[in-house]
Amino acid sequence: MDKKVLAIYYSQSGQLGEIIEYFIKPFERAGFPVEKVRITPVTDYPFPWTGERFFRVMPDCVLSVPTALQSFTLKESSYDLIILGYQAWFLSPSIPSNSLLQNERFRGLLKDTPVITITGARNMWMNAFDRVRQALLGAGAKLVGNIALVDRHPNPISFITIFHWMMHGRKDKYLNIFPVPGVAAADIAHTERFGALALPCLRHNDWSGLQRELLKQGAVAYKYKLMFIEARARGIFLAWAKFISARRKKRTWLAAFKYYLLIALFLGAPVLLAVDALFIKPFSTKRIKAKKQYYLELH
Ligand SMILES: Cc1cc2nc3c(=O)[nH]c(=O)nc-3n(C[C@H](O)[C@H](O)[C@H](O)COP(=O)(O)O)c2cc1C
Repeated sequence: MDKKVLAIYYSQSGQLGEIIEYFIKPFERAGFPVEKVRITPVTDYPFPWTGERFFRVMPDCVLSVPTALQSFTLKESSYDLIILGYQAWFLSPSIPSNSLLQNERFRGLLKDTPVITITGARNMWMNAFDRVRQALLGAGAKLVGNIALVDRHPNPISFITIFHWMMHGRKDKYLNIFPVPGVAAADIAHTERFGALALPCLRHNDWSGLQRELLKQGAVAYKYKLMFIEARARGIFLAWAKFISARRKKRTWLAAFKYYLLIALFLGAPVLLAVDALFIKPFSTKRIKAKKQYYLELH
């Protein structure tokens, strides 16, 4: 029987598009063609970025301010599966992804439809995923799978290398010393395995157990330390975003946020993590396990 599958996403460098291409390979081999749509904002975000433009998007990302999208054509009025690719920007869904999630036509399509979410992040995807999940559930979608790929290098290293990539547009070794930024080529190619897990679910329209299988195969990158940092940063980013968006001289305050971010990441986070490791974590096993389940599972 024919199946109607839509893969819809935004990508600047093409990384997320490549991840999705691998994911859908098993579908296409099985004779289920996938309709691919890359959304584009009316005023797109030029890639590579400049430092100033990069930080300028922070308040709108965090405050979920949408941007207008170019109208996109869809062949069908309903789908058997929607694959939604989104990326994290400032611990939030990127502005194009968030704009899609607020698009009335797209929300109409989501109702009662199985959805698999896919992200290719630096390493902090949890807050963004939580917001994507809330938006999907709010639109009546059935979230049946989540895949979160990351740059596996240590947090400070990937912070440096992603800036090289974002500012120069080249996914290569910064100064010939640092590792290649972003999701590793092998991890991108491995996404095909996750598509193969989803294929029988699509065939039989039975999605129960997919996420469990995806987790077993390592489809969701999880690190306690990053979950800890994201949990602390969530409220702080919101406070900064509200504060800056209310200022007339945003440039100065965005520069202040940039320095805050550097200090928080390279000094604040290690200190807080050390305090946590000594005084809080050993006594919070149950709470941490529940939090982890919340991000790895779909409800
Ligand atoms: C403005 C901006 C902010 C970002 N913030 C985050 C973040 O908070 N967490 C994260 O893991 N990755 C972050 N990234 C990396 C993206 O999630 C993504 O990995 C990268 O932009 C490549 O995606 P692409 O497919 O759109 O090229 C950010 C990227 C940009 C451009």
